[in-house]
Amino acid sequence: CGIVGYIGYREAYPIVIKGLKRLEYRGYDSAGVMIYDGESIKLSKTKGKVADLEERASKEITTNGTIGIGHTRWATHGVPNDVNSHPHLSNSGDLVIIHNGIIENYAPLKVELIKRGYVFHSDTDTEVLVNLIEEVQKKENIKLGKAVQIALNQVVGAYAIAVFDKKNPDEIVAARLGSPLAIGIGEGEYFIASDASPFIEYTSNAVYLEDGEMAVIRLHKEMKVRKIKDDSLVNPIIQELQMNLEQIEKGGYDHFMLKEIYEQPSVIKDTYRGRLHANEGIIQMAGVEDNLEKFLNADRIIIVACGTSWHAGLVAEYIFEEFARISVEVEYASEFRYRNPIINSKDVVIAISQSGETADTMAAIKLAKEQGAFVFGVCNVVGSSISRETHAGAYTHAGPEIGVASTKAFTTQITVLTMIALRLAKAKGTLSQSDFHMYLQELELIPEKVREALETNDKAKEIAETFKDAPNCLYLGRGYNFPVALEGALKLKEISYIHAEGYPAAEMKHGPIALIDEQMPVVVIAPKQGHYDKIVSNIQEIKSRSGRIIAVVTKGDTQVRELADYVIEIPETSDALSPLITTIPLQLLSYHIAVLRGCNVDQPRNLAKSVTVE
Ligand code: G6P
Repeated sequence: CGIVGYIGYREAYPIVIKGLKRLEYRGYDSAGVMIYDGESIKLSKTKGKVADLEERASKEITTNGTIGIGHTRWATHGVPNDVNSHPHLSNSGDLVIIHNGIIENYAPLKVELIKRGYVFHSDTDTEVLVNLIEEVQKKENIKLGKAVQIALNQVVGAYAIAVFDKKNPDEIVAARLGSPLAIGIGEGEYFIASDASPFIEYTSNAVYLEDGEMAVIRLHKEMKVRKIKDDSLVNPIIQELQMNLEQIEKGGYDHFMLKEIYEQPSVIKDTYRGRLHANEGIIQMAGVEDNLEKFLNADRIIIVACGTSWHAGLVAEYIFEEFARISVEVEYASEFRYRNPIINSKDVVIAISQSGETADTMAAIKLAKEQGAFVFGVCNVVGSSISRETHAGAYTHAGPEIGVASTKAFTTQITVLTMIALRLAKAKGTLSQSDFHMYLQELELIPEKVREALETNDKAKEIAETFKDAPNCLYLGRGYNFPVALEGALKLKEISYIHAEGYPAAEMKHGPIALIDEQMPVVVIAPKQGHYDKIVSNIQEIKSRSGRIIAVVTKGDTQVRELADYVIEIPETSDALSPLITTIPLQLLSYHIAVLRGCNVDQPRNLAKSVTVE
């Protein structure tokens, strides 16, 4: 979910609505807004997107007022409908809350509140929280801040909340545990949001609340930040924002996803800038240099991540083992954290996360730290929770990724992980001098090759026309390109709702081959380097069962061209770096299929960009 709040001198409504649109990547199944006009609370909420909310609010409420909060939801408790949308009111109608997260012990709290006469209108855990705050406030006859604090000490779960009290209308109370919350500080105004994007055009000063902190934000007063647990005052650190407006706008592209696909040549360069000096044979990242011994003494590396980041981890497994001869395990963070994993102080855990907020990845990090492992983060969002929780790390510098389906985050994650592997290989002497230099040079050429790979756009579109109505699709790859097959399939599923599976090409004969008939498109990643002959045999196997083959091949390839129905040509690169190139046409293919099917590319149904619940 995404939350936004404003208190100041401007009209709050447009700020909240625009902010919600920027946060829609965090969830978009329902939305709501509360505006306080100096006298009364105006509330409007609806199932659907922020645009639907705008339409409804314009008919339902007057939107004037300089205090407002809003919410865009990714449902956890209760189906997405008007009633379950946020903001939620307390029974008296005085308190209004927006909440991102889950209150795990809402059921017993609800029973208790019902006993005291509270009535609930929604199925949400959030409505329980706002009434709990009200109950505390009534019982103790205290101000909102104190009541929020006492209530939060009774709840188990994760939250980023903003609460408003009509009885004391010049303040908003915000708090966080496990879900991100940024507070923008302007002159005579404050902004509250899940990330800084809703307020970057108003102020470049922001405070990111830490877990377990709450802020009482009062008009014309200095904000007070306290620890929820023991009430101690915290001196908030004001950060200068690095984001700019251009980065979070579409810049002429039809969709954020397409813009982000096309940004890859430049962001990959940003990723290695200052870190890679191919001519001098230098590759360095501060987080790795400072902890080199830990990496070198490690018996193994455990990679934890979710979704696309997990796929980047799989590519890294091949690269680390090949370059640095260190054994790597790649785990879904959600599985790792719940299966009593064997971790010791000689393990290095690498957590990969675009958002730096994914709840399962965060929990896996905490577990690994408890058990004495050194934890290194590879995050995109600067200052995110995971980047702060890890012992050290390296940012991917891909810039804000807004499209829910991850693209540039994936290739920049692979770039960072490749650089780490090369740095370790250098220290360990596990690559020959010439190979080491060759990879450095090749890495420097990747942005140009990605640019060339983007020229497959027309071809991808043409293929998309043919296959847009396919009910299923199979993606096959071997070695370094097996994870690319998984990622290609995930992209298609996510945005076009076509069922797709990625498989190691050779493993196909142990199951998926049964699915192949003349209806079944099979995307085969078959660059010249890597197990080319083997994959040609796999293609033959599909061909003999009348499957329809779309092959990603190296420019100039002739053998696969004879067998495949369609070929997409990409520039040649070494096997280990090929995922950075082979991924590109697969991103474009799924993009065009989704567009042709009329899907919402940037905000596919049921998904969210940043999953801060487990
Ligand atoms: C969500 C997103 C995916 C992403 C995954 C992990 O499911 O929709 O695109 O790969 O979370 O997110 P992270 O921010 O940790 O990389």
